[in-house]
Amino acid sequence: MKLNRRQFVAGTSALIAVPTIGRAATAPRIIEARSGLARVAPDSYPETEIWGYDGGVPGPEIRARQGETVRRTLLNSLPQPTAIHWHGLRVPNNMDGVPGLTQEAVQTGGEFQYDLPLKDAGTFWYHSHNQSTEQVARGLYGAFIVEETDPPDTDHDITILLDDWRLGQDAQIVNDFGAMHDWTHAGRMGNYVHAHISPMTEVLTNQRLRIRMVNVATDRIMYVSVGGANGKLVAYDGMPVRQPEDFETLVFGPAQRADLIVDVTAESNEAVQITLHERDESFVIAEIPVSGSGTSANRGVIEALPPNPVPFLEDVSDALTVPLVMEGGAMGGLRQGTYNGQVMSTNELVQEGQIWTFNGVAGLPENPLAAVSRGDIVRIQMQNDTVFPHAMHLHGTHFQEVLPNGSLGPLRDTILVDRIETREIAFVADNPGDWLFHCHMLSHQAAGMKTWLSVA
Ligand code: C2O
Ligand code: CU
Repeated sequence: MKLNRRQFVAGTSALIAVPTIGRAATAPRIIEARSGLARVAPDSYPETEIWGYDGGVPGPEIRARQGETVRRTLLNSLPQPTAIHWHGLRVPNNMDGVPGLTQEAVQTGGEFQYDLPLKDAGTFWYHSHNQSTEQVARGLYGAFIVEETDPPDTDHDITILLDDWRLGQDAQIVNDFGAMHDWTHAGRMGNYVHAHISPMTEVLTNQRLRIRMVNVATDRIMYVSVGGANGKLVAYDGMPVRQPEDFETLVFGPAQRADLIVDVTAESNEAVQITLHERDESFVIAEIPVSGSGTSANRGVIEALPPNPVPFLEDVSDALTVPLVMEGGAMGGLRQGTYNGQVMSTNELVQEGQIWTFNGVAGLPENPLAAVSRGDIVRIQMQNDTVFPHAMHLHGTHFQEVLPNGSLGPLRDTILVDRIETREIAFVADNPGDWLFHCHMLSHQAAGMKTWLSVA
């Protein structure tokens, strides 16, 4: 189906409004992974059969305050085993939701209780971490917002989830998961980019908005700009930047987030517009309508958000350096790789659904990429010897990029490494356990791009 993305704007107001969940849930609440019907495509199309948390897509926005503990019991009513990963939250290892590394997958009919102490404030999200290339593409994700104890002064706090659907003529999800052509290239791209705004609201000229954007797509990198509002970027991947930054086009690899604080400049009857930029065309994918004028024309400077209690590195001279070479994929010239402990030719790897390697190994290796001690500073040099970009995500802690001049970038949990590029990250290994490190282009992850670190 070729959906006209411009039609989407008309459809926005018809989206299911997701009620905000109240404060401090002390008793565990059930979150049920199950099938449901949702309005994904414009109104002129039928509803889409999805898999979602509590049967909706996105799942319910979880909202709590820094310092609280959120408890959720996952009930699996899907036809496949599943688990939930709390992306970007620095949780205890056994709550991280990675089958095969931190827990057993929850079977159909089964349950698992997650207890999530919220160390950091910011914009996070949750999603399936089992057969995720299929389960996330079918809709198993939601926003997880942790409010600061003293939040910045804004008039609206708006979450925008950017997703990419592969829909057929009938607006149903195309059931072609595992297609090797997608896995060996840039991943399973959709044909319909959808931005979900929550809450649906109207705003006034001069009002100050906090906009939290999350790329929940399995594989698509999104280039996004905001029109009709002016302001600063205040956080990447849930972590405040030290100095609010100017921005124009924002680049979101899969799983990346940004928090913006902007003042509405659009006039009444106009809109704040979210525009997706592709190679030759741009599309308005969401609009927040402006319905009048607010009073104050000057809200004062946009200040930095309070920092989270994460170690922030100034210097990495004492770091343990770990190389990570990425190989494989189409046009990558991979000759062989190790899978399940066996050296295989590329053809044999493809028989196993594998085509990408980290340091010569496809799939989760027997031994960790590095076994380090608590408190060690770890520096990973990622060398991308493939002709595709990769969105590398580390579980359990945020990292900083080591820039070519040796200085350290902002805290992030996912970083894009472009084709034929080397990028370095560093972090303090202060969260004990076994932590996954993988490409968040979920097709690439499924086809080999994952490893792990052990922190003892
Ligand atoms: Cu957002 Cu390993 O995941
Ligand atoms: Cu990748």
